[in-house]
Amino acid sequence: MRSHYCGQITAELLDKEVKLAGWVHRRRDHGGVIFIDLRDREGVVQTVVNPEHEQAFANAGSVRSEFVVQIKGKVRRRPAGTVNPNLRTGEVEVEVSELAILNRSDPLPFPIDDEYHDVGEETRLHYRYLDIRRPEMLSRLKMRASIARYLRRYLDDHGFIDVETPFLTRATPEGARDYLVPSRTRPGSFFALPQSPQQFKQLLMMSGIDRYYQIVRCFRDEDLRADRQPEFTQLDIETSFLNEQEIQAIMEEMIRGLFAEILDVQLPAVFPRMPYAEAMRRFGSDKPDLRIPLELVDIGDLLRDVEFKVFADVAKDPQGRIAALRVPGGAAISRKEIDDYTNYISVFGARGLAYIKINAEGKEGLQSPILKFLPDEVVQAILERTEAKVGDIIFFGADKASIVNESLGALRLKVGHDRGLVEQGWRILWVVDFPMFEGGSGQLSACHHPFTSPKAESAAELLKHPEHALAKAYDMVLNGSEIGGGSIRINSAEMQKAVFNILNISDEEAEEKFGHLLTAMRLGCPPHGGIAFGLDRLVMLMTGANSIRDVIAFPKTQTASCPLMDAPAPVEPAQLIELGIRVAKTKDAKESKE
Ligand code: AMO
Ligand code: AMP
Repeated sequence: MRSHYCGQITAELLDKEVKLAGWVHRRRDHGGVIFIDLRDREGVVQTVVNPEHEQAFANAGSVRSEFVVQIKGKVRRRPAGTVNPNLRTGEVEVEVSELAILNRSDPLPFPIDDEYHDVGEETRLHYRYLDIRRPEMLSRLKMRASIARYLRRYLDDHGFIDVETPFLTRATPEGARDYLVPSRTRPGSFFALPQSPQQFKQLLMMSGIDRYYQIVRCFRDEDLRADRQPEFTQLDIETSFLNEQEIQAIMEEMIRGLFAEILDVQLPAVFPRMPYAEAMRRFGSDKPDLRIPLELVDIGDLLRDVEFKVFADVAKDPQGRIAALRVPGGAAISRKEIDDYTNYISVFGARGLAYIKINAEGKEGLQSPILKFLPDEVVQAILERTEAKVGDIIFFGADKASIVNESLGALRLKVGHDRGLVEQGWRILWVVDFPMFEGGSGQLSACHHPFTSPKAESAAELLKHPEHALAKAYDMVLNGSEIGGGSIRINSAEMQKAVFNILNISDEEAEEKFGHLLTAMRLGCPPHGGIAFGLDRLVMLMTGANSIRDVIAFPKTQTASCPLMDAPAPVEPAQLIELGIRVAKTKDAKESKE
């Protein structure tokens, strides 16, 4: 049907006969001649139909946008003055001798070009096949394929074996809700779709596979954000007989190679490492965006005895934190913007956002709602510690440390973006020395997942002070996004049970849910560890897309549904009966669509 892709027609093919097939991107009728811009996945080429080719001209007269046509013609130079230097095919055009209409198209719900901004995402997803015709979407999917190809090749070349693991399985806890699948053969029982292949990849190490990888779908029923999907893809990796540093070195080399090959970007020869505690202290986040040159500074020690009760109380609370965030040039931020920022951080539980503006030198130059509560020497000490200069603003957060970290961490990002402080380029690092557990007094939960090895030497040592234990866990963070996370795993049943106990999982429950793993740990389990990268996130960052949905061919909406297939959907009563399921309460069809 064709000899070339449209996007491949360049001056190298001058005077050659070509056959093309594709979509009518645009048709212009210039009286005597008809111009058709023909498009396929590789690009657009201009074709010209003259009346002397009667049949072709008649057909060209009836084509409309997005008709599927096939043409035969000769490549020639465009007349002087009509060359388009922005187009790969811009020097040439194809003089058409034959034109066949392969299929017609109704008028489209939106035009196929990259310039539309007013098409809602719901509409784009409903007609996703049209959306993907857009060059921008196509190029993202192509880059996604190139990235996956590079990663596979790297891992194949380094002795990793690609092994598939089941989707119909039992729950593997990664901190989200499970998607359940009812069993017909065992009525009343359910499979869980895996939140990750974590347990299987560990079992494969116990099988002696030694190095495993898989590009694999994971399923998590959690609250969605721009960088989360209910089903997403991991590059999942596990190794035996390697320590943290060795695993990190292999992964760094892979990511460095990937960026060099795909983007021609040189990442550092060694990725910096930052302990979790330092990341929280300086950036209020375990995935700091180092492109933003703003840092939190602790000032609690200066405020123990001040009159402002909110500050003094927090300063004396061992769980509390008072931090300052200085924004250079921020004195220009208006009252209204400060109110907006105060609102913005209130969703994290922040009770207020105090500030000092440094409008000019000296005490009179300061502007602040809290100045009246603070002695001069305290103010002076704060200005010195934050290295404040005329023209700056200092924001303050005082609360439980977790609230201050979340709210000022988020404010740091927002102000950084709003004020154009985000530096160009790529800032990558490992965050290491995570705590083993989170949640403080009362009930602890796993910071990574319950199979992560603590730094403690023995179960007895771990049980003494679990809340202080660190984990052999590491996250790879790129421009403020967690692109991968992994750890050395527990490989003794005794330690695994101790961790389960700390998580309030009794020995009986542990045997019932994870007996397979505990048994395998007693039957010759090598030391092992690994990592999983979020492929969608990595592709999102590398393509510069704003949302993870823009790098997934058929993603779900924010409400975890698919407008294209209209999924999820009700099923036939007969299917439910077969599964032994009765639906307790149904919303009417219209409501459940929303
Ligand atoms: P973790 O839960 O950190 O680790 O997941 C690994 C990486 O997957 C990506 N990711 C997501 N991407 C899109 N949508 C989501 N809902 C989503 N959730 C996670 C992130 C994250 O860094 N089994 C462990 C890995 C290991 O220990 O080896 C795990 O799944 O980029
Ligand atoms: P108030 O006396 O409550 O009006 O607060 C005075 C200033 O302190 C206001 O700018 C508040 O936004 C701010 N503020 C109140 N509580 C906190 C807090 N926990 N952390 C930071 N700033 C606060």
